[in-house]
Amino acid sequence: MSVSLGKSFSVTGISAKPITIEADIRKGIPSYSTVGLPDKAVKESKNRINAAIKNSGFDFPVKKITVNLAPANIKKEGSSFDFPIALGILVATGQIKDKERIKKIISIGELSLDGHLRRVSGVLSIAMKLRKCGYSEILVPESNKKEAAVIKDIKVMPVHSLRHAVDYLNGKKELEPYTINVEEEFRAHSEYNIDFTDIKGQYFAKRALEVAAAGAHNLLMVGPPGSGKTMLAKRFVTILPRLTVEEAIEVTMLKSVAGTMEGGEGISAIRPFRTPHHTISDVALVGGGSIPHPGEISLAHRGVLFLDEFPEFKRGVVEVLRQPLEDGKITVSRAADTVTYPANFSLIAAMNPCPCGYYGVPHKECRCTSNKVLKYNNKISGPILDRIDMHIKVPMVKKKDMESFKKGEKSDTIRERVEAAGRLQAERFKDADKLFSNSDMKSKDISKFVKMESAAKNLMTRALDKYGLSVRSYNKIIKVSQTIADLAGKEKIEPAHVSEALQYRKD
Ligand SMILES: Nc1ncnc2c1ncn2[C@@H]1O[C@H](COP(=O)(O)OP(=O)(O)OP(=O)(O)O)[C@@H](O)[C@H]1O
Ligand SMILES: [Mg+2]
Ligand SMILES: [Zn+2]
Repeated sequence: MSVSLGKSFSVTGISAKPITIEADIRKGIPSYSTVGLPDKAVKESKNRINAAIKNSGFDFPVKKITVNLAPANIKKEGSSFDFPIALGILVATGQIKDKERIKKIISIGELSLDGHLRRVSGVLSIAMKLRKCGYSEILVPESNKKEAAVIKDIKVMPVHSLRHAVDYLNGKKELEPYTINVEEEFRAHSEYNIDFTDIKGQYFAKRALEVAAAGAHNLLMVGPPGSGKTMLAKRFVTILPRLTVEEAIEVTMLKSVAGTMEGGEGISAIRPFRTPHHTISDVALVGGGSIPHPGEISLAHRGVLFLDEFPEFKRGVVEVLRQPLEDGKITVSRAADTVTYPANFSLIAAMNPCPCGYYGVPHKECRCTSNKVLKYNNKISGPILDRIDMHIKVPMVKKKDMESFKKGEKSDTIRERVEAAGRLQAERFKDADKLFSNSDMKSKDISKFVKMESAAKNLMTRALDKYGLSVRSYNKIIKVSQTIADLAGKEKIEPAHVSEALQYRKD
């Protein structure tokens, strides 16, 4: 007898695709097999399903069972099919009575041997697709309930075990749909626990970060050990515009798919800060693998990717950042198909001025040969440097600043200026294709959108001669000048904006 056991979803990239679960249950030598491209986890689920069904006090059919997951061309991963398959078997064997009702319900979860439900990844992506596929109710493990409830207009039913679910489906137990107030949840979790006021002195670096935030410019910081580069980079997210609820759902979805949500966590309302070590592999950085996973750059989506000790990263690893820095997403290929993950992040890189860390630092002695210093600096990949608009030196914090009790500006205050500059850019680029911020401008966009006072133009021409700037660095300086003008609320770029932007160039 071939029966439909219902539907569930498989998540590829960040989007969920419906999967039909069917079973063929017939007399014969008792066996159990799964077909339809199951990966190892799906095969292992056989043992869990068998044990969970028995340990929950139900009968596992002593028959020849073949479970088919269709369509066969979608690769199914993970253990999230345990629960729907187990429910399906209980329907097929009459242990769940209402065959019609269960057809309208989606279920997802991993079973433990004793029949309890464990959290799985990708639940938010599935919840998002539910309505579109004609469903309104989903049974999820308790610890996944918050992320599912982020999606409005669906009935999220948290269950803790197979028994619990069956009692509900057989009408023996009532279940309350779980709901959250997304806006309230969002507000409650949108505060950072660090702030710009924590940073003493370092006025130049703080201003540079403000400019970088306002125009979405990538930034490289060069400074000796202990100068506060990591401290500054961590606080960069706190001055970026607040996430919208839609953006927060994207961020949450990536965490959900990557399986990095903390237990019971709902929506991620703050921008992520990711700081992978320089020994990271390219798969871990950009994503992929035989069972594709989002990489660090996707976990940094809408936030910051901080690459500390930048020259130590392998060139090949860094160069895979080119596509995402350009397109805001990454496509990774695997055997049969490709998977795309969003990866729109700000890049902040940091490095010491030389291998020992003290080249050019007052009162410190650098032990490196000039050849070594040069080699260290040349290790950075050219194509990536092209995508970093701003370079700054971060000196050791001044003693008088460190000892001072004067509080610097709060992140909230700085963020208001950043957001105002963002609104000017949104207006400027409202009819443009794929342009969102000043840093996105190419040469042709610069001639189209940027307005400069003639004195500012003259200053640029003189700088071009004096410093022997390349066209590339010329463009970067114009883009950064535009952001500085936006922060000042000016229509045209003025000489003062250009002279500030010149301080953020690579010499
Ligand atoms: N401007 C500052 N205001 C307050 N504290 C500071 C400042 N600069 C540095 N510190 C303190 O010094 C510590 C070291 O700073 P941090 O780790 O950010 O330096 P770094 O430049 O990243 O060093 P490394 O090159 O070793 O990674 C910080 O934890 C912080 O407590
Ligand atoms: Mg550091
Ligand atoms: Zn040195």
